[in-house]
Amino acid sequence: MSKTESRKDEHVKISLEKDVAAVHNYWDDVKLIHNALPEINKDEIDFSTKLFGKKIGAPLIIAGMTGGYEKAKKINENLAAAAEKYQIGMGVGSQRAALEKPELKETYSIVKDYDIPLRFANIGASQIVLWGHKQTLENAQKMIDMIDANVFAVCLNFLQEAVQSEGEAHAKGCFDAIKKLAEDLDTPVIVKESGAGISFDVAERLSKTKIAGIDVGGHGGTSFSAIEHFRSGMINDKLHERGGKTFWNWGVATPTSVMEVGEATEWKLPIIATGGIRNGLDAAKALALGASCAGVAHTLLEPATKSMDATISEVDAIIKEIRASMFLVGVDKVSKMSDIGVDLWI
Ligand SMILES: Cc1cc2nc3c(=O)[nH]c(=O)nc-3n(C[C@H](O)[C@H](O)[C@H](O)COP(=O)(O)O)c2cc1C
Repeated sequence: MSKTESRKDEHVKISLEKDVAAVHNYWDDVKLIHNALPEINKDEIDFSTKLFGKKIGAPLIIAGMTGGYEKAKKINENLAAAAEKYQIGMGVGSQRAALEKPELKETYSIVKDYDIPLRFANIGASQIVLWGHKQTLENAQKMIDMIDANVFAVCLNFLQEAVQSEGEAHAKGCFDAIKKLAEDLDTPVIVKESGAGISFDVAERLSKTKIAGIDVGGHGGTSFSAIEHFRSGMINDKLHERGGKTFWNWGVATPTSVMEVGEATEWKLPIIATGGIRNGLDAAKALALGASCAGVAHTLLEPATKSMDATISEVDAIIKEIRASMFLVGVDKVSKMSDIGVDLWI
């Protein structure tokens, strides 16, 4: 097993076995205002949403998590089956492992066996800086073809890189690399954080590029610093174990990030609200703050390691909760969710 393979495996294992959540989940600080006279019928709520030109069955995506080692194939397959059933979007984890070892391709490409309306390819930002523009374009096309992706996600994960013993904290040249990629790749490019969020400033800079959207990947759910804390502990690496703990709660809270990114981009780009979404009520709160859809990672990881049925049940519950939330605020269309008022305690 290569370093990369075992690392992805360890991330999943640690996420399941340890509590790697941020100390506070900021969706608890957002309250939707109850509408005692909603004047709509719950079953008639229109859920359909268009994202990156694709119609999805609910304002929800499964955020990219895994691939690149044998067991990941089943996880991605279970997630893909749920994405197909509810016609929602789905991402895979960083595809770097399959570029280095083509025999691992099918741990990602299994998602092609399912009829998913919107698929996201994925690579870490430091990787595209190391490759340079020409090689990035070639590799991006390979990753897109691997899963028939409609969108190419560049993942910002500098918190993880900064606290990881083998971290590649190469951030110099990252913005230019993303900018050029978004100009030259035929497939839409989005920028995605992975648990530390995107601030106003960064979103403003990104808005000057041709990227098609932003997944805020905010703070409040999975903390990669926590994951690295436990990973370092396993190999008795005291320095990085300590660093992981120090930065455990680092980042821009997801609800704050949604609002800052929206304002910085003048609400012109679709925003995916990933980070700490535990249920359909959290997802509905994200829509009320202006996100186009919510993204779920950790909440679906456990069921996805168990079975297809467990994964489908979890997605079903989340979608039903979004519907119930919309009913209780009296909104019959996803696009109208951002018009309602919210109580903020952030
Ligand atoms: C086990 C695990 C592996 C992940 N791997 C990736 C990855 O390869 N690429 C990526 O962009 N994000 C990755 N993420 C980050 C998620 O997509 C998401 O942004 C983050 O976990 C916050 O969402 P959550 O609070 O719902 O978990 C991973 C998350 C988990 C839990």
